Amino acid sequence: MKKFYITTPIYYINAAPHIGHAYTTIAADVLNRFLRARGRATHFLTGTDEHGAKIEQAAREAGVGPQDYADQVSDKFRALWTRLDIRYDDFIRTTEPRHKQRVQATFQKLLDSGDIYKGNYKGYYCLSDETFWTETEAPESGGRRLCPNPDCRRPLQLVKEESYFFRLSKYQKSLLEHYEKNPQFLSPAHRAPEILNFVRAGLQDISVSRNKVKWGIPAPSDPEHTVYVWFDALLNYVSAVDGPEFARIWPADVHIVGKEIYRFHTVIWPAMLLALQLPLPRQVFAHGWWTVDGQKMSKSKGNFVDPDEILREFGVDAFRYFLMRDIPFGHDGDFSRQSLLKRYNADLANDLGNLVSRVADMVDKFLNGDLPGKSVPEKDRFRQLIAQKTTAIDQSLERLDFTGALTQIWTVVGELNQYVNEQAPWKLAKTEPERVKDVLFDLVWSLRIVAGWIEPFMPQTSAKIHSQLGVRQFPAPLSAEQVLAGVQTGTGRISKGPPLFPRKA
Ligand code: MSP
Repeated sequence: MKKFYITTPIYYINAAPHIGHAYTTIAADVLNRFLRARGRATHFLTGTDEHGAKIEQAAREAGVGPQDYADQVSDKFRALWTRLDIRYDDFIRTTEPRHKQRVQATFQKLLDSGDIYKGNYKGYYCLSDETFWTETEAPESGGRRLCPNPDCRRPLQLVKEESYFFRLSKYQKSLLEHYEKNPQFLSPAHRAPEILNFVRAGLQDISVSRNKVKWGIPAPSDPEHTVYVWFDALLNYVSAVDGPEFARIWPADVHIVGKEIYRFHTVIWPAMLLALQLPLPRQVFAHGWWTVDGQKMSKSKGNFVDPDEILREFGVDAFRYFLMRDIPFGHDGDFSRQSLLKRYNADLANDLGNLVSRVADMVDKFLNGDLPGKSVPEKDRFRQLIAQKTTAIDQSLERLDFTGALTQIWTVVGELNQYVNEQAPWKLAKTEPERVKDVLFDLVWSLRIVAGWIEPFMPQTSAKIHSQLGVRQFPAPLSAEQVLAGVQTGTGRISKGPPLFPRKA
């Protein structure tokens, strides 16, 4: 069976990882964990993008050679992913031999087929974005040309050199046909018009080599030239799965990327694949950008959010939760300690954490930690609700609507809290000791399912809830039918643990 193949962008190593990188990688991890738990075979790739002029410069500024520099920063990414509980299958670095070989072979192949040809380039280059611009795209104003990307606006360099070109223009028609036949390719739908308009306006061949940049993969048979960093980087998605497994993994099922690199992934990349006669990815999904306290993160402002600072204060699960919950995937949002704190206290400490503690505590106190072994929750109210939410949550996650899934989960958490308050088991314990068993059974049965739902988002919290509620081994998620049938959700002893999310000020 083909594996479901999920990728993140490979990150530039000219700076340490920040919250933006963490965002994409966490989203990919949530999707991957969700699919795996449901028995799907998946392959999850991330990595680092290590060539190009920008990195050459960053290494120079750091006073080390580019490879040493790349080694250090790439390690930082990998170590952060471990702290964030990211479970990737493969981590690719563009300086690895497996990748370099593939890039050179590809370049040669396209040269042979005529899709790459030699010419002369004249245009403007943005070092920060590693992007070429034409005279018309970047008109002169006040004696300078600035990067047309509204989030960049840095001065451009004039580049006049012998260069290799990729025949992008040849693929305009095929690309448009592909978008039309595969509407999910350009996701989410609100991003499609930008790409359609761009491609309909006509495509120009693009330069795919630099002869002034030394830190790159040499063009085969013409080593004065190095391969343009984007041509090199995009190929990571295939070089990483080269080998006997290729046909089981390729094409990618979803490339998750930030909106600023959507065009590279939806125009240039599929055109390269068409030229290589390889199947195209099923979906490219662009998410939005985080600002911080209302401002764009930038070197000059020095306001990069360091994920480790947040981890120290709030823990990994709260961080993962916040990023997935606070803004719908695909839209822009703003990060602030204040908004994280608010969600931490309201959603996690109060709604979920308290509920688990109260329930475990009551089972401990009133029933000696032993829940009667009934298999069906007494009230149909929860069975119906949970069965319906099981389907809805699955559907949201299939669409990468992480916020939607969490919102549904919290509806159930809200209902359970309300049930505790209505039933007041602490009163029932005195007046109707038999009823108390039923009420607590309903609560525990439902909460164990909730703990399964949150596993992709908050793996540690999910395990803690399971363990407090007597589920000894991580269970396979229940289907809506199993929920309706009221299958047993656990049998072990129940005891309260330390608070899951201690309140913070
Ligand atoms: N190396 C290229 C990608 C090559 S993929 C073949 C690159 N690297 S990057 O280090 O700049 O990372 C860009 C990615 O980081 C974005 O696409 C996005 O996934 C993430 N983010 C960086 N800053 C971000 C925000 N402020 N907000 C959300 N995500 C952002 O581009």
